[in-house]
Amino acid sequence: KVIVIDFGGQYNQLVARRVRECNVYCEIYSYRTPLDQIRKMNPKGIILTGGPNSVYEKEAATAPKELFELGVPVLGLCYGAQLMNYVLGGKVARADEREYGKTEVIVDKPLSRLYDGIPSPMVCWMSHNDYIAEPAPGFEITAHSANCPCASDEDPERKLYAIQYHPEVLHTMFGKEILRNFVIGICGCSGSWKMEDFAQKTIQELREKIGDGKALCALSGGVDSSVAAVLLSQAIGKNLTCVFVDHGLLRKDEGDLVESVFGPDGPYDLNFIRVNAQQRFYDKLAGVTEPEKKRKIIGEEFIRVFEEEAKKIGAVDYLVQGTIYPDVVESGLGGESATIKSHHNVGGLPDYVDFKEIVEPLRYLFKDEVRKVGLHLGIPEKLVMRQPFPGPGLGIRIIGEVTAEKVRIVQDADAIFREEMANAGLDKTTGQYFAALTNMRSVGVMGDERTYDYAIALRAVNTVDFMTADSVEIPYPVLKKVTSRIINEVSHVNRVFYDITSKPPGTIEFE
Ligand code: XMP
Repeated sequence: KVIVIDFGGQYNQLVARRVRECNVYCEIYSYRTPLDQIRKMNPKGIILTGGPNSVYEKEAATAPKELFELGVPVLGLCYGAQLMNYVLGGKVARADEREYGKTEVIVDKPLSRLYDGIPSPMVCWMSHNDYIAEPAPGFEITAHSANCPCASDEDPERKLYAIQYHPEVLHTMFGKEILRNFVIGICGCSGSWKMEDFAQKTIQELREKIGDGKALCALSGGVDSSVAAVLLSQAIGKNLTCVFVDHGLLRKDEGDLVESVFGPDGPYDLNFIRVNAQQRFYDKLAGVTEPEKKRKIIGEEFIRVFEEEAKKIGAVDYLVQGTIYPDVVESGLGGESATIKSHHNVGGLPDYVDFKEIVEPLRYLFKDEVRKVGLHLGIPEKLVMRQPFPGPGLGIRIIGEVTAEKVRIVQDADAIFREEMANAGLDKTTGQYFAALTNMRSVGVMGDERTYDYAIALRAVNTVDFMTADSVEIPYPVLKKVTSRIINEVSHVNRVFYDITSKPPGTIEFE
């Protein structure tokens, strides 16, 4: 395996991800990990990531000189590149101008094994204030840019390579190939590792770690918690208990779907407990219209219900969470990375439940990787490939007060929308789409009668990262069909709107 040493840069998990894309297994460790521990892992290669510090600052994250003397190939990226040169006797200084963005890099030494098959010049992603002013003794510069005399340097004898730009960022045109040259060409990894191996390895590790201990999992039916639960169930079987809280704010028939997969009639050997807490949630939400208040109530009630179930089970050793890497980063828990925003999925439950330790088997994976693992584990595609669904569920897709009747209306309208999107073949190409219930009522006419009913809003967006999104141009005939079906089949709806607002200024959800 390859070890990625984390110095707190924002692209660190991307480094690991790109390595995995080369079919090479890797793990991330903090720069604080003792050298002995790293040596014992017997890595085939080591990658040092970027980081926010300056190597010459007093308290800066650093690496011992001996790390470069293990005989294992080391690749330093950005901060890691500067650190390698600095620790080995080179000079790093503040540049007159920060180099940021797409930058043309010229390869000076095409015979470098790092640049095998790579054209020059090439576009690379730069993001640095400091630069390598003088390579460490024994190092030779292998590339430069207009503002950066040393865009990469190396000492192939000692198998040490340093790159100032970011090959892990997709803007670097040949980044993946360069990383491949390192992990496969230079480190000699075979490149045969697959996501399936991750599943097997994780199951094995969980089995060893948990042994005969007991674990408890809050299963939402979402992709992440489902995959986490199946990994655990394959590792420890009946020593796992999954609690699925049906808060009555799920999509139509979703509770039953989750139960059919994870319940006693499904293929998995786990203790599945479905708590039908619909009425409790509706009671708590009665009369509440303010979105943040609704979210809070739903979140808190969820914890209450979960806690009551957990008490019935008694003390457990482990609490399983389906945390994935983007949650970790956003919450500022990601090793050395800086906080971006706090996320509701992480760190919510634990205080209330009697357990010793949290296990998060998906902590280092991205969503698409989690999906791959899920498919490999045989979880139905319907569950694994589905679109994101917010924790507070339909509670935030019903604008204003939530009632059982409104839930029924939005569930039925949403089911029709999803069915027609699938019929039109748009379900696989659209990032997220759903029906919401506005709190607007208006006058209409139906079969000679005056109606005074609700309006449904449809939303469909494409997005790369859910931070920005564009509305999807659904063909008019599809929209018309959905509209006509909703009005005919769902009582108390007499109008349908299609929302074409992008994000920003809108958000994806309505509340
Ligand atoms: P917004 O509405 O902020 O949504 O543009 C961005 C993405 O996040 C999802 N979302 C949530 N997911 N809990 C979740 O698990 C929440 O409270 C929540 N709010 C929004 C939303 O569905 C979209 O994919």
